[in-house]
Amino acid sequence: MKRYVILISGRGSNMQSLLDTRLPGTCAAVISNRPDAAGLAWAAARGVPTAVVDHKTFATREAFDNELAAEIERRGADLVLLAGFMRVLTEAFVRRFEGRLVNIHPSLLPAFPGLHTHEAALQAGVRVHGCTVHFVTPSLDCGPIIVQAVVPVLTGDTAHTLAARVLAQEHLVYPQAARGILAGRCRLEAGRVIWTSDATSAEAVLRVPEDK
Ligand code: GRF
Repeated sequence: MKRYVILISGRGSNMQSLLDTRLPGTCAAVISNRPDAAGLAWAAARGVPTAVVDHKTFATREAFDNELAAEIERRGADLVLLAGFMRVLTEAFVRRFEGRLVNIHPSLLPAFPGLHTHEAALQAGVRVHGCTVHFVTPSLDCGPIIVQAVVPVLTGDTAHTLAARVLAQEHLVYPQAARGILAGRCRLEAGRVIWTSDATSAEAVLRVPEDK
């Protein structure tokens, strides 16, 4: 059974969706850079091991990343899932976990990297928005895409309503991507994402929610 860790900084709703799904692997730990992250208590109540590597106690980004990497390795993780983990990781850290480091971002990358993606989408007037699960590379919110989900931008949307619509899709596609990797049906090869042919097309390419 492969082992994965989930890295969070806050409420951890994506973490919950991952832990609520029957993934073909063992969650070795939920790790937070913030001791007060709400998701830690939720995971602990489920009997999932938790750990804190508090970035405020390290003098440099490199020192924090080194300890974070050591904690991940102590847990014997094959896969690292960033789920609302709000720290920029150093290139050395990203290279150390290349092909095993995955993130979810609340936009259709490469559009709207960084923070405040829903405000940016409304500002740009796009008609579709969504989320992206991708392998992490040293550039922020960049990297080979594993799966994306699309939602419409509706008349009258606010950043809040749009965020909620996107988040509902995040909770579906992140477990899907994690399952694919843990089951050996999805991997990073020479900078590209390869899904094996037995992956369903929605899983391998794009999730478009049906009209209600
Ligand atoms: C999500 O929108 C995720 O895409 C982004 O940060 C948010 C975290 O939410 N990276 P949660 O902590 O998973 O509820």
